Amino acid sequence: MHRSDIILSSYQNLVAYIMQTMTIDPYLSYLTQHLTPARIQHSLGVMQVMEQLAPIYELNPTTARLAGLAHDAAKELTPPQMIEIARMIHFPLNDPSDCDPLYLHGPCSAYVASHEMGVNDPLILEAIFRHSYVGDGPVQSPVFCWCLRFADMLEPGRDWHDVRSSLQPMIFAGQMGQAAYELMEWLVPFVESMNIIPHPAQRALRRKLAQLFANGANGVNNDQLPV
Ligand SMILES: [Fe+2]
Ligand SMILES: [Fe+2]
Repeated sequence: MHRSDIILSSYQNLVAYIMQTMTIDPYLSYLTQHLTPARIQHSLGVMQVMEQLAPIYELNPTTARLAGLAHDAAKELTPPQMIEIARMIHFPLNDPSDCDPLYLHGPCSAYVASHEMGVNDPLILEAIFRHSYVGDGPVQSPVFCWCLRFADMLEPGRDWHDVRSSLQPMIFAGQMGQAAYELMEWLVPFVESMNIIPHPAQRALRRKLAQLFANGANGVNNDQLPV
């Protein structure tokens, strides 16, 4: 490579780095005021994995990064604050699991991202809403939604070595459906092992994916996956 090309390429890398930093800066400063350092670290880890998944699944890298960064924006609100948001957005609280912050923080984080952080990309808000395995009906981008769930599971700070080592190669090879199926086969018993009742939507999703992918079934394209 010619010396001027090297200078140009490092200049372009620098500009790209500055642009990326500037893009996330206002969001990061909001989050640092509302989340613990450990949660910020987790969010940056999810952002980093989203960045790696973006070229594999043809996501817009800026959008992917922001979804990762903001996905747990409401995670540290109190349960009554989350229930108040649920009422404001008419999120149904029919099942006891609906009021559990483990599940409710997805819809609440989408609300906070939209109303307090100024995130307005519908794909980001949808993926944040659904990342805690609630909500029903079709989504605009099953691929984006599953990428966020995978990034949430794969981020380096998680102490989930077994599931990471079995699913990461599949996810990075683009085998989203098979990985989603195997993730749910792991996740539901994992939730139960913590004495938490899996959300009915989680159980239903596990069943749907098993019908599509268990025992060598044909599966579906990534963009038709149930979420
Ligand atoms: Fe979360
Ligand atoms: Fe998370």
